[in-house]
Amino acid sequence: MLLSFEHVSLRYDPHVAVLSDINLALVSGMFYFLTGASGAGKSSLMRLIYQVEKPNVGRVVLFDRDTSTLLPHEFPALRRRLGIVYQDFRLIQHLTALENVALPLCVAGAHTSDVRDHVSELLAWVGLGGRENAFPCELSGGEQQRVAIARAIVNKPKLLLADEPTGNVDEMSSKKLMHLFLELNKMGTTVLFATHQQDLVQKYAKPVLRLKKGRLVTSLAEVA
Ligand SMILES: Nc1ncnc2c1ncn2[C@@H]1O[C@H](COP(=O)(O)OP(=O)(O)OP(=O)(O)O)[C@@H](O)[C@H]1O
Ligand SMILES: [Mg+2]
Repeated sequence: MLLSFEHVSLRYDPHVAVLSDINLALVSGMFYFLTGASGAGKSSLMRLIYQVEKPNVGRVVLFDRDTSTLLPHEFPALRRRLGIVYQDFRLIQHLTALENVALPLCVAGAHTSDVRDHVSELLAWVGLGGRENAFPCELSGGEQQRVAIARAIVNKPKLLLADEPTGNVDEMSSKKLMHLFLELNKMGTTVLFATHQQDLVQKYAKPVLRLKKGRLVTSLAEVA
């Protein structure tokens, strides 16, 4: 099992449960949609996976580890097995597209000059060939999103968490991005794709985790 939630609840405020009694199990190699209305808890569920939130109740087991038992020095290694496309991109404004994408490799010890060719290829793959030296402020929202996607996959993550990765682009671009995620999944990356776009969910026959006011209302068993 790649990831499981066992009776997980999350509260930011002691009186309001943002996620209530979530149980789920994700299998390696699959593509999952995570859907639900705005405010349903999609981003919060993702934050529990990438460990910036801890459940108030229940257990999150990731890569066969109960995450409540992780020691601080174990986080970077775990983090390197995850790719994250944040809803708000989080690109570094004073770095170029190429430098932003190279960053996870550089943090792991590589030099930009050594990874330049690989990163350029990846940028071309997401449709940004020739834009390597552009700064985020010189790119459109959809282009910044592509840089964020390239950065999330440059480390070949086991699990890719994509939070509304097609939220800022038109239908045509959204189709192209969706194609990229499906290709990645075919190459072996497990994908959890959060979106409130029901047309997208309906178009692709993939398992769906549906949140409603912080509760999981569609279990994977129902859609299998
Ligand atoms: N840091 C926070 N502190 C307090 N409340 C928060 C925080 N982050 C989110 N919330 C609340 O938690 C609930 C779920 O928010 P979340 O961002 O997880 O929803 P979402 O499904 O990702 O929505 P969207 O589709 O708009 O991105 C909302 O009611 C939100 O106001
Ligand atoms: Mg969100």
